Amino acid sequence: MTHYVAAAAKGADRRTGAIKLHDASDFVAMHEAGQVTASVLDALADIVQPGVSTEAIDAFAHDAIVAAGAVPANIGYRGYAHTSCISINHVVCHGIPGPRTLKDGDIVNIDLTSIVDGWHGDSSRMYLVGDVSVKARRLVDVTYECLMRGIEQARPGNRLGDIGHAIQQHAERHRYGVVRDFVGHGVGRVYHDAPDVLHYGRPGTGPELKPGMIFTIEPMINAGRPDVKMLDDGWTAVTRDRSLSAQFEHSIGITETGCEIFTTSPTGRHRPPYA
Ligand code: MF3
Ligand code: CO
Ligand code: CO
Repeated sequence: MTHYVAAAAKGADRRTGAIKLHDASDFVAMHEAGQVTASVLDALADIVQPGVSTEAIDAFAHDAIVAAGAVPANIGYRGYAHTSCISINHVVCHGIPGPRTLKDGDIVNIDLTSIVDGWHGDSSRMYLVGDVSVKARRLVDVTYECLMRGIEQARPGNRLGDIGHAIQQHAERHRYGVVRDFVGHGVGRVYHDAPDVLHYGRPGTGPELKPGMIFTIEPMINAGRPDVKMLDDGWTAVTRDRSLSAQFEHSIGITETGCEIFTTSPTGRHRPPYA
């Protein structure tokens, strides 16, 4: 890769204002971390069933990440005490695992970050519990399409606004609301780094994408209004209008010709239904 500033030279373990540019060996490391996360998300497709508690799902994810020789990044992150965020139905993100059990018809996001050799693989997917309504399945499908349309725009010469615009266009075409209160982020040896990756925006605006940039895209799409409300636990975000919300997340890196998705599913379980 040409024209990069070595991450190490910029203080790789600190969040600075600058967008770090990573080299080929950093991409290999991100792939390793991303594949641990992706394989655990794959395995969770068999665990997510009516009657299972979200704390049991979290325990499974924890043990699977540790068994892979990785570290669950969320434990201890700003006081968070769990491996996963599990966000059901109208929960937008950062749902806290607990005794609540999944029930037929729920749609669920599970968000995991594994650390391998200091590198963070951050990804989330939606899961369908039993028989899910057509309306809810459509939201899940369109949200996945939003993520992938954003990723299609992730190439050198484009700008971050091109990604956000592609996501917003697709969501709003279906009369869905794009959440503004949470964004994607630079990722690497730092969990949440520059830049902020907005899931809405105008074409041709924002920082130019350059080979070596690594960030997440993680659109949260609501069946109703975009507005969110925080619960008193300080983590759980819900839709203000109690409409359903869905999210998918990948960690990606900009290459010379496009991008590499680090958290792609090794078994083709990209989106439900998971065979
Ligand atoms: N994985 C989430 C993200 O996509 C962050 C979760 S932080 C936690 O950025 F503390 F809530 F786990
Ligand atoms: Co993220
Ligand atoms: Co995440």
